[in-house]
Amino acid sequence: MRIALVGCGYVADMYMQTLPGLSGLSLAGAYDHNPDRLRAFCEFHAIPAYASMEALLADDSVQMVVNLTNPRSHHAVSRRALEAGRHVYSEKPLGMTMDEARDLVDLARAKGLWLAAAPCNHLSDVVQAMGHLLRTDSARFGRPLMAQAEMDDGLVPFLRPETWRSISGAPWPARDEFEVGCTLEHAGYQITPLVSLFGPVRRVTAYSTCLLPDKVRKVGGSVISPDLSVGMLEFDGNVVARITNSIIAPSSRTLRVVCEHGVLSMADVWEYHTPLRFSPTGMTLPARLTRKVEKYLSPILPGLLLGRRLPVRHGRRVPRTQGGHHMDFSRGVAQLAAQVARQATVRMDAALALHVTEVTLALQDGARSAGGVTMQTDLPHDRMAAPIVPRE
Ligand SMILES: NC(=O)c1ccc[n+]([C@@H]2O[C@H](COP(=O)([O-])OP(=O)(O)OC[C@H]3O[C@@H](n4cnc5c(N)ncnc54)[C@H](O)[C@@H]3O)[C@@H](O)[C@H]2O)c1
Repeated sequence: MRIALVGCGYVADMYMQTLPGLSGLSLAGAYDHNPDRLRAFCEFHAIPAYASMEALLADDSVQMVVNLTNPRSHHAVSRRALEAGRHVYSEKPLGMTMDEARDLVDLARAKGLWLAAAPCNHLSDVVQAMGHLLRTDSARFGRPLMAQAEMDDGLVPFLRPETWRSISGAPWPARDEFEVGCTLEHAGYQITPLVSLFGPVRRVTAYSTCLLPDKVRKVGGSVISPDLSVGMLEFDGNVVARITNSIIAPSSRTLRVVCEHGVLSMADVWEYHTPLRFSPTGMTLPARLTRKVEKYLSPILPGLLLGRRLPVRHGRRVPRTQGGHHMDFSRGVAQLAAQVARQATVRMDAALALHVTEVTLALQDGARSAGGVTMQTDLPHDRMAAPIVPRE
């Protein structure tokens, strides 16, 4: 599958760092409407630069466009690529509204093209291992009851984000991030694994607010979006998930699934090599230590502290990207490419992207959805099937 990148900003560097070693992909070149960024990026990575979007789409060798532009450009760029007969893999969100997202899904369907959107972290070996264990070892874990999913990034506005740079020199787009809002930007990193584990979300009840409106003005912006959202997601089988998104609360990207016999947990859903643990209580080491010390109980047994570490078979070592995460940004692109070539089970597609977008928007609009909103989109129930991601 010959791909071309559109958007040569902060995240594009992370795609470039994770593309090597994934089979089935070859990079034709890249385009950005900012000529300075285009030059810096293509020179840094020594790849061809397209002079325009027209030039990119005129290259018949390009089969898939990987849309790495800012969220508010996603719809226009993806639409243009689909109209030109290209498969599209888009960064999240698929669109800024359900109308935009549905328009792309309808267009892809009408043209017989593939469309999918990031995040792809449900393809990580650790999320897949969790799903496999929940499906196949109910005697050990019991029925899943609830999940706690956190996507809190700490007090980002006070971490000097204006100084952050990608490896080719792109500044972190603070204004864009703050105006779009952390829920639209990040909730998918938890929704996608949750949907992969439990199927489609049936109902969302949420609250969202903006606690630090001044941060937007300080970076030259004017659109105020939530910087905190908390939601309850309801799944079939009486499974519920509490999800939080913020750039306020202390950094935590944990995903914990509480089952009848204990808690399966991973410390960071961005980390594809994060350990998968199981413990009867799900208590963390500091919490246990504090409790034990407080109560002056008998000596602590180390094996009980963190919970037992469970084996995960890692198909490929994910390179560390900017910021120190082993996050395989490009795995979704490779999965989509493999699906196009009919080698793989469907794990990244328009239906998933649309559903994740609907749940994300319900969380973002939390203040207006008091009492809960019923999701209109659905997913085929084959989401638990093992993915076939191309391996090295
Ligand atoms: N910054 C991160 O750490 C990060 C991580 C994961 C995902 N993402 C996602 O990646 C996407 C891009 O984010 P980013 O941080 O790289 O932003 P960015 O602003 O650094 O880069 C986006 C680039 O797209 C270009 N662009 C915008 N509209 C365009 C158009 N119509 N045609 C051509 N080029 C266009 C811009 O000039 C810019 O260089 C977003 O959807 C974001 O949610 C970002």
